[in-house]
Amino acid sequence: MRERMRARAALLGGLLLPALAAVGGCERPAPVRARHAAVALVGGDPDRGRALIQRFGCKACHTIPGIPGADGLVGPPLTGIGSRVYIAGVVTNQPANMVRWLVNPPGVDSLTAMPNMGLSAAQATDIATYLYTLR
Ligand code: HEC
Repeated sequence: MRERMRARAALLGGLLLPALAAVGGCERPAPVRARHAAVALVGGDPDRGRALIQRFGCKACHTIPGIPGADGLVGPPLTGIGSRVYIAGVVTNQPANMVRWLVNPPGVDSLTAMPNMGLSAAQATDIATYLYTLR
């Protein structure tokens, strides 16, 4: 009886646990999951968003993970912006508000130092999608 239990334990340890670990190993890595979540949430293209962030020179003022040379300190770092509760401390951090902010920051908060960067709504949507991958 004890033998059989031991055999069963060995079976559990030898077969079942590696099988469970393998299932766990199929999970997508965190950056891929964050990317899928951002696309589902905002509906833009994070790769285009990243390119637009480079093109529009956001890095002059912001530190932005994943953007080469983006170590500006004029505005707040955008590290973890996807998990922030407020945007610029004035509106709740939801996709629609993020797009509104990016299209026209002074339209959201007349006292803000962030200038209107001349983004279209479509461009802002792509940028917002990239920003929401930063959790
Ligand atoms: C001339 C400097 C400047 C440039 C260029 C600039 N920003 Fe900003 N940005 C700021 C400042 C300053 C703030 C803080 C605004 C506030 O709190 O009123 C800010 C705030 C933000 C916020 C809100 C951050 C938070 O912590 O709530 C986001 C998101 C953002 N900027 C994205 C961008 C993106 C994307 C670009 C490029 C398209 C960009 N910014 C270009 C200066 C700039």
